[in-house]
Amino acid sequence: MDRSTFMEFDRANFLGKGKLFAYRRVYEAFRDAVRAGQLAAGQKVPSSRELAARWSVARITVTQAYEQLVAEGYLETRRGAGTFVAGELPDGFFRAESVGGIGSDGAEVCRVEGQRYLEQPAFLSGCADLEAFPMELWLKLYAKQLRGSAYSLNNYGHGEGGYLGLREAIAGHLRTQRGVCCEAGQILILSGSQPGIELVARALVKSGDRVAVENPSYRGIVDSFRLNGAEVCGVSVDGQGLVVDELRGMRKAPRVVVATPVRQFPLGVAMPVGRQVELLEWARETGAWILEDDYDSEFRFRGKPLPAMQGLASSERILYLGTFTRSLFPDLRIGYLVVPKAVYPDFLTLWKTGAMNPPVAMQATLAEFMRECHYQRHVRKMRKLYAKRCKWLAERVEAELGKWIEVGLTDGGMHFVGYFRKAVDVEWLAAEGRKRGCVFMPISSYAVPGAGGVERDGLMFGFSSFGEEKMLEGVRVLKEVLEGMG
Ligand SMILES: Cc1ncc(COP(=O)(O)O)c(C=O)c1O
Repeated sequence: MDRSTFMEFDRANFLGKGKLFAYRRVYEAFRDAVRAGQLAAGQKVPSSRELAARWSVARITVTQAYEQLVAEGYLETRRGAGTFVAGELPDGFFRAESVGGIGSDGAEVCRVEGQRYLEQPAFLSGCADLEAFPMELWLKLYAKQLRGSAYSLNNYGHGEGGYLGLREAIAGHLRTQRGVCCEAGQILILSGSQPGIELVARALVKSGDRVAVENPSYRGIVDSFRLNGAEVCGVSVDGQGLVVDELRGMRKAPRVVVATPVRQFPLGVAMPVGRQVELLEWARETGAWILEDDYDSEFRFRGKPLPAMQGLASSERILYLGTFTRSLFPDLRIGYLVVPKAVYPDFLTLWKTGAMNPPVAMQATLAEFMRECHYQRHVRKMRKLYAKRCKWLAERVEAELGKWIEVGLTDGGMHFVGYFRKAVDVEWLAAEGRKRGCVFMPISSYAVPGAGGVERDGLMFGFSSFGEEKMLEGVRVLKEVLEGMG
């Protein structure tokens, strides 16, 4: 399609998406055109100024949509040359029907209108700022469930896969906010995402099976699979996430691959859509399962959260894992696994025998919190707060510790990585931190055993659960320790 025909065609497509925000309509028009092969790889797209004038939208609207498309790997920018459709994506790979977009279902769109707890040490990562949590509201909703809920508290809660109201709320959220293709009947409610990892390991792995995980990786992933008899091997992570070529090069193909495509843990890189497609294709060819661990995608600071990989293609081999322990708070202990329909009954049996159901009153409270749009509102508030803290801390680290540390990606999550400019004895550093009440967590502590360490070591700079004063104190202590190294 040439440029002027495209602008006409897609203007119609753009106008057809009438209920969405303008930014989202531009984004979807381009995304759909790339997926449908109407825009060819390498084709130049109009400048933001040109498109804004043509489609009668603000230029910022187009810029935001382009940024999101670049972040997801549909478009790429070339310095001085403009914006282009990204490299080859296989024809006919994507689902024909739309997975629904943010706010595409009017009922799901939230209208934006808003003690002291345990002190966390700097730079602990992955915990929430509880002072910002609407605890009084939560208690009211919880008390309501305990006093007068429709179900009996006097039972064992082993319903089909968890409290239906929560499974429905999660399914609606995943379809509209995360692009996940699922129904309530495919969801299992769990006490966080760790039991989901354990469930997948129990369901899919036989002793001696190979399981590929990203190197570095969250330790709970490695441990669960290893304890269930798997031979766990690490796969490198580059600037685009898990390196699929390494999977291809393996003589014994893995039965399961665990990936964090939206934000790699702990490095923070996002897997562009082209690499995701490569991974899904590889899995289709080899018959491997993919466990997508989408642990904190809500907190992306520029643009909208990146959609989940599960929604990209027909997903009979993808298990999608999510959690509220990051977006709300860790002790909530509620997560979920989306299971392909064909294997749901087997997973359900294991879920029941493992008594994996969290307390139903808590599930019902969360369901109402989501239904009433408090969840969306809270996540939006926290995203703003965390973005501010992240920026503040990155600036302090650059200013005070720039001699030793280079700040990595700061576009989302609850921590960023500061890479060492020169090799450092990280065990000593962590021990010195502990003595002074700080958490200096090296990336190498997440290296997969037997995978040869990590390419470049660094520290995790958590910023979510404390304010500037605590962060400043952490920077001061770290500087003192680094200076003491000589
Ligand atoms: C990447 C990743 N996956 C899974 C988990 C487990 O989280 P939870 O069981 O608290 O939901 C964590 C916890 O830090 C994590 O970092």
